[in-house]
Amino acid sequence: MEIIIQPDVDAAALLVARVIAREIRRKPDLVLGLATGRTMEAVYAHLARMHRDEGLSFASVRTFNLDEYIGLPAEDPGSYRHYMNTHLFHKVDLNIRNTYLPDGTAPNLAAECDRYERAIVERGGIDLQLLGIGHDGHIGFNEPLSALRSRTREKALTLSTLQANSAMFNNDPDKVPRRAITMGVGTILESKRCIMLVTGASKAGILAKATEGPITSMVTGSALQLHPRCTVVVDEAAATNLEGIEYYRWLFENEPEWSTF
Ligand code: F6R
Repeated sequence: MEIIIQPDVDAAALLVARVIAREIRRKPDLVLGLATGRTMEAVYAHLARMHRDEGLSFASVRTFNLDEYIGLPAEDPGSYRHYMNTHLFHKVDLNIRNTYLPDGTAPNLAAECDRYERAIVERGGIDLQLLGIGHDGHIGFNEPLSALRSRTREKALTLSTLQANSAMFNNDPDKVPRRAITMGVGTILESKRCIMLVTGASKAGILAKATEGPITSMVTGSALQLHPRCTVVVDEAAATNLEGIEYYRWLFENEPEWSTF
């Protein structure tokens, strides 16, 4: 794992967008894993701008989202399909048939989870997985005590997640679906590369636990310490509790990969 510290939220989101753009230019049919949530909105805004102004093409890219609420149809404004259409899919030249999210309305949810896992494998696996982290340490919707080898499955959301995600549901946690389909921690760890974006002072505590603390299913983001190629991009506000902060700053200044950023 490596941690990259950027001065502010926008610089952090821009760096993540530039890494994604570089990977798409290197491999136009990239299999890209996507996340939702407020943190990602700035990344998608940068990618949409790069498509518009810099000729970045998503025409051959395939995407797999981490998760979707159970019971919400695609057209529901609270669904993650709707979020993705609004923030990215309808703003770039992605072929919508190459964009995959779990179907939270499928009659047989276990079969849908298996189908999703197979679909990822059939397309060669995820090349680059974008991630955020929840205040309870979740990646995807892998809430505390999710098995670190878990696969795509149904998961009940924690009260903290219902609260955090209520903005899309008239600020009413009771309106947030109680369950979701999520890629498992094991599924995420099989991606060839991961990039996690964490911003804001409210995430400083959980960021330090996930990156510098022990690997534990209580903080599923900590499983990323097992990933052979995981970059965590943070802003100064999120970085305040990190013990290795000076080393991380030095790495960004000196590692060849980051010399053009
Ligand atoms: C959603 C997802 C979640 C979010 C996390 C942070 O697809 O993967 O793990 O990344 O809940 O959400 P925000 O950015 O809203 O704090």
